[in-house]
Amino acid sequence: MQTIRTDTHAGQVAPRAVKDFMTGYFTGVTVVTAFSGSGRPHGLTCNSLVSVTLDPPTLLVCLDQGAGTLAAVRETGAFAVNLMSERGRATAERFASAAPDRFDSVAWERSAHGVPVLVDDALSVAQCAVADLHRVGDHTVVFGRILDVENRPGNPLLYGMRTFSGAPEGVLEAAVPGTLPAGR
Ligand SMILES: Cc1cc2nc3c(=O)[nH]c(=O)nc-3n(C[C@H](O)[C@H](O)[C@H](O)COP(=O)(O)O)c2cc1C
Repeated sequence: MQTIRTDTHAGQVAPRAVKDFMTGYFTGVTVVTAFSGSGRPHGLTCNSLVSVTLDPPTLLVCLDQGAGTLAAVRETGAFAVNLMSERGRATAERFASAAPDRFDSVAWERSAHGVPVLVDDALSVAQCAVADLHRVGDHTVVFGRILDVENRPGNPLLYGMRTFSGAPEGVLEAAVPGTLPAGR
């Protein structure tokens, strides 16, 4: 097997090498949304979602220090994680762009917990209250206490090899959210 070694700088591996390492790691795709203190909706495409604990129900996302969505999350202490469906690909691309008017072209509403949630493009939505914030370098790890989840049937959007794609055939029929076998 051929091993490709990478240069290091300042005693640590270069950012490019980390990106190359992560590119083979396929994930789902989320759009993290929050209102700012003035009531403006913010959101960004995010694949750093991790399920942390079930008791208490907690997840985390890592948000760039400069992200407007992180500022909004800090201001209101609440956010939603919209797990994107395959049909939400254009929305995921838009929420990863510099477009200032990202919400103009998507269906969204204010949820019971007072956060903006995507109506048509999200497969599942978790509404969260900020439980903790930890700055690590150029990102902040946001821990969210999950207050409510909504699961809808559909095909998830994936990201890997620097490309959006759908789930492979055969996986789709196998698992409907909310129907996991006992013990999983
Ligand atoms: C597949 C994918 C995953 C991403 N995941 C993250 C992430 O986990 N955290 C993050 O801060 N940015 C992530 N980004 C980048 C942001 O979506 C992008 O920088 C966005 O324009 C930030 O918007 P803002 O700075 O206006 O808030 C991701 C982009 C893509 C395409």
